[in-house]
Amino acid sequence: MKEIKILAIVGSLRATSSNHIVVKHLARLVPSDIDFQVYDGLGKLPLFDDSEITPPAVQDLRDQLKAADGVLICTPEYAFGVPGALKNALDWTVSSAELMNKPVALITASTGGEKAHAALLYTLEALSARVADDARLLISFIRARLKNGEVADADTLRALTSVLTAIIREAKLYKAEALSLHD
Ligand SMILES: Cc1cc2nc3c(=O)[nH]c(=O)nc-3n(C[C@H](O)[C@H](O)[C@H](O)COP(=O)(O)O)c2cc1C
Repeated sequence: MKEIKILAIVGSLRATSSNHIVVKHLARLVPSDIDFQVYDGLGKLPLFDDSEITPPAVQDLRDQLKAADGVLICTPEYAFGVPGALKNALDWTVSSAELMNKPVALITASTGGEKAHAALLYTLEALSARVADDARLLISFIRARLKNGEVADADTLRALTSVLTAIIREAKLYKAEALSLHD
């Protein structure tokens, strides 16, 4: 069995998304003892309605988040804000609190991205997620940093490795804390 689980959530639903390219790059860097999965249900989630009946797609999201020792969000900015599909997914977790105290890495990879990055940090604070300082990365001009469907810019490659190292460290700490609580 793998030691820890990290769930990646990509905020773009585009087939040729730069953010998917970034996450694919990270997936290749992940050590073999770590289970790194990419959530694929973002576009199938119903719109948040605070219903007391949990739709199956929402339960699946909550289950995947609960099972993860760390979460990595990688997203563009749309219209100076957080993509609606990603915000919708996060809204579904407010009452169920899967992100409470959970380590989260935030990568905003966009043309600019400053506003969505800042807004997401507020949302993650509202969800009581733990976002370590070195697990936050804003990559502006993302498309210029890609070539032939790969991340091609040396500074970006270094920064991505550093964020991945941070979320793995935080996820291991989280798992160790969880295990010690059960002793
Ligand atoms: C409707 C729309 C609105 C956008 N608004 C912004 C924006 O406000 N800020 C920004 O940095 N990029 C904006 N962009 C550009 C995206 O950052 C860029 O398309 C990025 O590559 C999208 O991420 P993806 O390749 O992972 O889909 C916008 C793109 C679209 C399609």
